[in-house]
Amino acid sequence: MLSFTFQNPTKILFGEGMIARLGEQTRPYGTTVLLVYGSGSIKKSGLYDQVIEQLKSIHARVVELSGIEPNPRLTSVHKGIELCRSEKVDLILAVGGGSVIDAAKAIAAGALYEGDVWDFCIQKAVIQQALPIGTVLTLAATGSEMNGNAVISNWEAQQKRAFGSQHTYPRFSILDPTLTYSVPRNQTVNGIVDIMSHVFEQYFSLTPDTPLQERLCESILLTLIENAKIALEQPNNYEARANIMWCGTMALNGGLISVGMQNDWSSHGIEHEISAIYDIPHGAGLSIVFPNWMKYVYKERIERFTQFAQRVWGIKRDSLSDEELALAGIDATRAFFTSIGAESRLADFNINNDQLDHMAKEAVLFGPIGSFKKLEQTDVQKILEACL
Ligand code: NZQ
Ligand code: ZN
Repeated sequence: MLSFTFQNPTKILFGEGMIARLGEQTRPYGTTVLLVYGSGSIKKSGLYDQVIEQLKSIHARVVELSGIEPNPRLTSVHKGIELCRSEKVDLILAVGGGSVIDAAKAIAAGALYEGDVWDFCIQKAVIQQALPIGTVLTLAATGSEMNGNAVISNWEAQQKRAFGSQHTYPRFSILDPTLTYSVPRNQTVNGIVDIMSHVFEQYFSLTPDTPLQERLCESILLTLIENAKIALEQPNNYEARANIMWCGTMALNGGLISVGMQNDWSSHGIEHEISAIYDIPHGAGLSIVFPNWMKYVYKERIERFTQFAQRVWGIKRDSLSDEELALAGIDATRAFFTSIGAESRLADFNINNDQLDHMAKEAVLFGPIGSFKKLEQTDVQKILEACL
């Protein structure tokens, strides 16, 4: 195991009805709140009214920024930064999925920075401070509710870039599983694939002697596999939604499950290049990329893949060779994604090979990606070709 430091400052309020605690959580940060949300799901569900009621109860002044896009855009972040400055905002409250929360983080950091917030995304500057952020999560997927990361799309430049900072962890996050009952089937699927992918990025590691971390990863995967079909068949099943939601938060909250391990993250890098150009949902892109990445890299440490096949998918070794067992685990992953309705090919989104070169080049703009196998441009190109 490698040496590590771990700190996660986000307070979690988990359970049905926790929205009633929103006022009390918001009050210590000041009086002016920037309420950030998406294209209207929170109005349809009635959550918006509940949020406003809570903010009124503490006499907060509410400034609104709505219309945050899935794969949130830099232009929306700029609007939020302007509002923070002109209205002297004390706290940013994100109500929505990962896109809304990520936009809130970029706004929070950008509002206190003299240059352009995009600098943080292209590693031109490091975040030194940010306004406080609170969240009410409505979609289980990214873990953004308990981590310091954000992913922003610069549509004009066709670039989707991430930053991470200790300053952009939410101060508090309200996680009420009933708020995810209304998530459409395809977004529920995308969320499950994203959560599994976050675990994969950490689990497929070359670091030796990390048995607890590996079992933490496996337990999240097994819990998701058990609960995915229940939630898809019964969208209002509290326990299934609650288990998936907590898996999402645990899978990516500053690295709790994989401290002391080298992480990979190349599949995410490749997916971000696809959604930067084609604006496809992040989870759908991962469902296409991940099994192809697995097939490309499994020989680097085949015993992690044979362990995965046996412990996660329950495949018996019997007379299988290591190679057959590893490949059976990868096939089981693809079969599971397909069984819940996730996409498997870029062609499912009418994407052909036009931009493959460009995507492969952009993916390695700052050097080779990944650690399980370091991927150069030609490697990324081959993985993308397999995704067609
Ligand atoms: O815009 P609204 O009306 O809110 O609708 C959203 C959106 O259309 C809808 N939705 C959310 N909650 C709902 C709901 N619809 C009905 N009922 C509800 N309760 O779902 C759609 C997708 O929402 P979005 O926030 O885009 O999804 P997700 O949470 O999957 O976030 C995806 C974004 O997060 C980034 C992705 O790249 C992508 O940009 N990521 C962020 C990470 C992080 N911050 O740590 C890590 C991830 O790996 C990921 O890259
Ligand atoms: Zn992800």
